[in-house]
Amino acid sequence: MELCRLLDFKDLGDERGKLVVVEGAQDIPFEIKRVFYIYGSDNEVVRGKHANKESEFVLINVAGKSKVRVTDGIGEHVVELNRPMQGIYLPKMVWKDMYDFSPDSVLLALASTHYDGKEYIRDYDEYLKIMGVKK
Ligand code: TYD
Repeated sequence: MELCRLLDFKDLGDERGKLVVVEGAQDIPFEIKRVFYIYGSDNEVVRGKHANKESEFVLINVAGKSKVRVTDGIGEHVVELNRPMQGIYLPKMVWKDMYDFSPDSVLLALASTHYDGKEYIRDYDEYLKIMGVKK
């Protein structure tokens, strides 16, 4: 399965500074229903640690940097997000961890759904069973 896809956004900046535009269903593969952002996490913290049955996400470090580890229980990708012009698309049903946050990290998340805690899988063993990797 596709674990993730890097997205490069256009820089519409000029001599006044940078400008990055992200339009739902155009620059990213879904209509945006929800936006949240994570900041103030230090480099000891691991966030995420879940998979989503319904939600797709695009993560963008609009400031600072962090790492995202994505797995389906078999394959794995680790991506450093460190540019406001780059995002990572995460499809449904991938397991993700975010970590190594720089002190100035602001990690913007665009989601395809409204929040519903019931569509989260937070137990890695349960995830592996659902994915058929573990009995
Ligand atoms: P959590 O999913 O643990 O954050 P992360 O994946 O970034 O580590 O969410 C932390 C808390 O915030 C949890 O109680 C659920 C709540 N929350 C919402 O109410 N709405 C949201 O859109 C998100 C992402 C979290």
